[in-house]
Formats: sequence, structure tokens, C-alpha cells
Amino acid sequence: MAKTKKPQRRSAQWFGREDIYGFIYRSWVKNRGVPQDQFDGRPVIGICNTWSELTPCNTHFRVIAEHVKAGVLEAGGFPLEFPVMSLGETLLRPTAMLYRNLASMDVEESIRGNPLDGVVLLMGCDKTTPSLLMGAASVDLPAIGVSGGPMLSGKYRGTDIGSGTNVWSMSEDLRAGKITLEEFHEAESCMHRSHGHCMTMGTASTMASMVEALGVGMPGNAAIPAVDARRNVLARMAGRRIVELVKENVPISRILTRAAFENAIRVNAAIGGSTNAVIHLIALARRIGVDLKLEDWDRLGRGVHTLVNLMPSGKYLMEDLYYAGGLPAVIRELGENGLLDKDALTVNGGTIWDNNKDAPCWNRDVVFPFKKPFKKDTGIAVLRGNLCPDGAIVKPSAATPALMKHRGRAVVFENIEDLHKRIDDPKLDIDERCVMVLKNCGPKGYPGMAEVGNMPLPPKLLKKGITDMVRISDARMSGTAYGTVVLHVAPEAAAGGPLALVENGDMIELDVAQRRLELMVPEKELARRRAKWKAPEPALKRGYWKLYIDHVLQASDGADLDFLVGKSGPMVPRDNH
Ligand code: FES
Repeated sequence: MAKTKKPQRRSAQWFGREDIYGFIYRSWVKNRGVPQDQFDGRPVIGICNTWSELTPCNTHFRVIAEHVKAGVLEAGGFPLEFPVMSLGETLLRPTAMLYRNLASMDVEESIRGNPLDGVVLLMGCDKTTPSLLMGAASVDLPAIGVSGGPMLSGKYRGTDIGSGTNVWSMSEDLRAGKITLEEFHEAESCMHRSHGHCMTMGTASTMASMVEALGVGMPGNAAIPAVDARRNVLARMAGRRIVELVKENVPISRILTRAAFENAIRVNAAIGGSTNAVIHLIALARRIGVDLKLEDWDRLGRGVHTLVNLMPSGKYLMEDLYYAGGLPAVIRELGENGLLDKDALTVNGGTIWDNNKDAPCWNRDVVFPFKKPFKKDTGIAVLRGNLCPDGAIVKPSAATPALMKHRGRAVVFENIEDLHKRIDDPKLDIDERCVMVLKNCGPKGYPGMAEVGNMPLPPKLLKKGITDMVRISDARMSGTAYGTVVLHVAPEAAAGGPLALVENGDMIELDVAQRRLELMVPEKELARRRAKWKAPEPALKRGYWKLYIDHVLQASDGADLDFLVGKSGPMVPRDNH
């Protein structure tokens, strides 16, 4: 790896001083038994930990941190672990996404304000990954992401069940009367039986794959199960490697280049990854100065096939992907078919191609060859039209092919409460040809853009055996969910987007092949409705909620806060020490 100009070690501004401040900086750290020789100018490595019992997916991170520390010490560095806000997807209300940007600020300021030369970022549950990467990108020190790894496969009555994906199907089965409450409870205990994050190709596994594909994680980062000893080995190797990265002065901006993002977008298509990655990668790219656009997803995803047969698009789980060869087997397929920028640099010092060109595949039912893919042409489709002037997305690999071109009558839910109130009503005027429309669930409207875009189907249609319908909203969808679900409509309804103007009975036309989403209502009528429209009142008008609602960007721009876009680097402003 080519070296850039050798800087003075950043931590020396604290620990290298021989004055009153140097005394203060060193003396307090020594209170837990740190010897003097740790302040001799060796790289000081922060271990940014999202451990929390409120984030069940990250509860093994104290152990992982110890392995990172061991690696840092072995390589001659000085590790200092610190906590940051942890975002647990299952418990945190109204949605963990509301706090992604807040957590990223915590990460950014914790790194910038402290005597660190490099950081290892411990992340697992969905939003912990983008929040740590975004915060670290804005400081731009050397950094390595270490994911906590997926849980072991869920096992229920002789079959594999996947987190999220089977929650959706089982709750629909319960509502349709196909399973009992006892069976439902039994499945709860069988689904999540080890440490780790969701083991479907949901958002957490997708983002762990993005970490590897971007080159900001070590090879193998995506799929090693959380409880496999090799996950700890990876953490330890990351600890050793970050010390070298600091010595080589390779900041994260050398890794997170446009080439890295383009590789990651293609990998996302190949794994049938979560739609949430669209928002997170755009936000991350713009922190580091790469102008990634929604259209890049469509352009780069075209011609990429889904190779990975994992839930929610397929049948296997992350444990199976690991045993089949993991993400390296997927990246190799892309590289051999001209869909990889092979020169993109990664944190281990090699290029992405160096790391993956010889990757084996042990199970072709889990990782399909590119020439005989699992599903064809399945990159994220970006839609435009008068219903979504700033874009909307759909994930073809999770959709029903017959519904990709569809015209139907709108059945409108004004907000999530309205949906919950009416969806089970047998008198709801809806049939399977209708288009379900949900408003006011975007970044400002919810707020935080909840994962409710995959609206539950009405029980009366479920009982008829209907399993999918076209659904449109400004919300997000869990990476573990599926269906013909149009998401991230921008501008959102609460910002006055055309979605706000849809009324019951309007005709809507979706044509994924043509990338179109149209509200078949004359402009004159829309203008009449627009004149009457009033923005919904925010649910809370103080504190972080107010800051967020006032400053959040639309999904098409990554839903970051407008004043967080870009980076300010590792300098501490107004530092009079
Ligand atoms: Fe944490 Fe799914 S709930 S990754």
C-alpha cells in the first residue's frame, strides 16, 4: 500500500507533552494500571463499542472488544475502548432510524475530541453500522469496521426459520388462523438462539456485507457467525491491522472512494440486499465527499443478478452463506464477470480483487454462478413519475413478477395509526387488484421513516390465499421483508410531496421495467388538492426530535441531517491546550 506523508501522531498532542496538560492526560489514564511505556508514541486505537443489553444483537461485543484489544497490543498499539449510543432495532421506539444521525454525531465527536490515531468500529444491529461509519467518515482517521456476525440459523420443528422473514410470515399465518398462539410462542424461542444479529439477508447482514464490499472491513467480515471462533480471530486481526493502518497513515477516505461505493452497490444487488442500504450508503458517501446519487443504484444494479439464495429473497440463512464460501465467493463471481472495480483498496492492504480472486464456493445452491444466477436482473429499481418526482425504489428480487407492471385503484391510509385501525375491518373496500397507499411515514412524517412500507395485507384477502399486493409509501421496509413494495417515495407526504395528494379511488400505475410510478389524476385536480393540503403536526416539538424534523433530508439524499453532510476532519477546533 502506497504511503502518504508521515504526520505527527495525533495522540502525541495529548500524551506526548511534558507540561501540566501532559501530566493530566497521562495521569488519569494510569488510574487503571496503564504503565508509562504505553505513552511512548505508539498508535492509540479507539475501540468504538455499541454493546448494550438494549441492543440484543450486540450483547457479545464486550468479548469482541477484548479480541480487538489483544490484536492491538500484539501489534504494538495502545487500545482504549469507549461506548457510543447503541441502536437496537427491536426495542427502540419509534424507530432506531430516528437516532442513526444522533448516534453518528456521538461517534464523530467521541473520536475527534479524544487522543485517538485510529479506530475499530464494533457494529451489528442494523443502524449501528451506518451510524458508526458515518461518524468515523466525518473525522477521517484510519478506521476498520468489525461486524458482530449473524446469529446461528433458527430451528423450528425440523425447519430453518429466519429472523424477521419468518416473523412476517408467521404473524400473517396467525392472523389468517393457520397457526395457533402456542406455535407462535414456540417459534419465538427457536428463532433467536445465539448471540449475533439477524441471520437473514436483512439490513444487518446487508450492512455487514457492505462493510466487506466497501473494503472497510476485513475479508470474511460479512458472514462468520457471531459464535464461531473465527469471528473472534477476525476481530483480533482487525486489532493488529489498525495499528499498521495508522503507521501507514491511511485514513478511511482512502478506502471509501467512488469505486468502493460502486462495488458495494453491485454486491448489494448480488446478495439481494436490503433496500435500507440505499439510504445508508448515500448518507455515508456524502459524509466522505462522494456524490452518490439514487440513479447510481439503478445504473450500477442493471445487469447484476442475485446470486445468493438467502431469505427474504430465497431459502437459506447467513450461516449457510458462510459455509458456502461467504461474501468472497460472491465478489469473485462479480469480478470474473466485469462487475467489480478490482483496484479498490481495502483495509487489509490488498485490493478487493487481491482478497477475493481465489475465493472458493462450496455450495452452488447457496451462491449461484453469475452465468446461471438465482434470480436475473435484480438490482434496486429507481422509479420516477408524478407520484415520486425525487424518486422511489422497489426491490425486484423480493417482489412478485406478475405485479411489476400493474394498474390499480388506490386504497389510502393517511398514517400508520389509520392503517392499524382499518386494515382488519372486513368492510374495508379493497380487493387484490387495489394499490395500498400509506402516507406520512417518511423521515419527517413518522419521524425517522419507520419500516412499515410492507403493510400487512387485509385478513379477508389473506384468507383468499392472496400473498402479495402493490404497496406504496414514503416509509422504509425491513430488510427481512418481501413483497411488491414501493418505498422511499420522495418528497414524502409530510413534506408536501404528491403522495400527500392521493385519494381513495385514484388510479395508480406501476411499471418497474419502465421505471415509472404515476398517479393517474389530472394536474388541475392535483393543484386543487395541493391548495387544500396542510402539513401534519409533528408528534413532538422539542429536543432531538425537533432538530431531526427541522433538518432531516429526504430519503433520496440519504436522510442525513443537512448540517452533518461532509466531514470536518480530525482537528479539534478552538483547542487552546
Ligand atoms: Fe438487530 Fe435485526 S434486530 S439485526
